[in-house]
Amino acid sequence: MSKVMLEVNELTTKYITRFGEDIYAVDHVSLKVEEGKSLGIAGESGCGKSTLALSLMGYYFPPLHYTSGEIIIDGRNISGMNPDDVRRSILGTEIAYIPQAAMNALNPTQKVIHLIEDVIQAHQPKTTKKEIYQMARERFELLGLPAEVLQKYPVELSGGMKQRTVIAISVILTPKILIADEPSSALDVTSQKMVIRMLRDLMEDGFIKSMIFITHELPLLYNVTDDIMVMYAGQMVEKASAHEAVFDPLHPYSKGLMGSIIVPEEGLRDVKLTAIPGVPPNLKNPPFGCRFAERCKYVQPECITSNVEMRQINDDRTYRCIFTEKELRKAYKND
Ligand SMILES: Nc1ncnc2c1ncn2[C@@H]1O[C@H](COP(=O)(O)OP(=O)(O)OP(=O)(O)O)[C@@H](O)[C@H]1O
Ligand SMILES: [Mg+2]
Repeated sequence: MSKVMLEVNELTTKYITRFGEDIYAVDHVSLKVEEGKSLGIAGESGCGKSTLALSLMGYYFPPLHYTSGEIIIDGRNISGMNPDDVRRSILGTEIAYIPQAAMNALNPTQKVIHLIEDVIQAHQPKTTKKEIYQMARERFELLGLPAEVLQKYPVELSGGMKQRTVIAISVILTPKILIADEPSSALDVTSQKMVIRMLRDLMEDGFIKSMIFITHELPLLYNVTDDIMVMYAGQMVEKASAHEAVFDPLHPYSKGLMGSIIVPEEGLRDVKLTAIPGVPPNLKNPPFGCRFAERCKYVQPECITSNVEMRQINDDRTYRCIFTEKELRKAYKND
């Protein structure tokens, strides 16, 4: 087994609303990402993907609060570390996060090179502007971006170029782990492919050691990541290799997610098109038992009355369901 770059054990975090209500958006999530590997996180809107990303960087600001669990980055336990220390010694260098819609949040009044100066000088205040320019130029060229981009304002860049610039800036301090939150959503197909290519190159060329890729589109992850974790209502419901998660999902929700693809990706043309009826539960007051029970066509009384734990099939594969693998396969065969 290779070195584990990120280990998260039973992480639980919540939002406390201004009315004092708790929203457990990340509920006892455990995961591991090894060096050289990428993990995809999929699930419907509101299931807690972005909250998990923020939570596993240890960067907590109200209304988001750490509740319990462990976060270990490259052997260093950062659980409970104060946000200032996290910003100083973790963000950008150990782990970098490209937030959802980051490309639209770039400061429009600053040229790209000035954005990079801000990032570098926050960590290495003694670096001169000349050194930063040199470094940025080399890095952009290595990543296949023209150096002229450095002298442009964000508004002068196309959507695809803007997103690739955001990615290049986020890895400027050579973080070990990169978390990309919906990096290709809202881009046209060509730009989307270029962004995905760039992320794959970052891994293959060793700029980053591990990657987490978040999207609600499971088939997109198949082309990018080694493993896939499926989230539902704040919980992990399945984790498997990308191939198994897409072509042989076990949890009824993963199965439904796979079947609800609207635009099948290359190689996934035979997938049945269906939608999952119903909506996820409210995270303010999630039901006991299986959170997917209300929408599950295989539901049994036990799903609602018992505490549904994860089942481990092997080191790489787990799912949360009362049914055994054999029972699920039989049910799917009879569909
Ligand atoms: N600032 C906040 N205060 C209170 N609740 C929040 C806050 N941000 C998110 N939530 C709630 O936490 C849950 C998880 O939200 P999150 O943004 O992590 O989902 P997501 O899976 O990333 O969704 P999407 O696919 O739409 O990006 C949702 O139910 C959401 O309503
Ligand atoms: Mg999100």
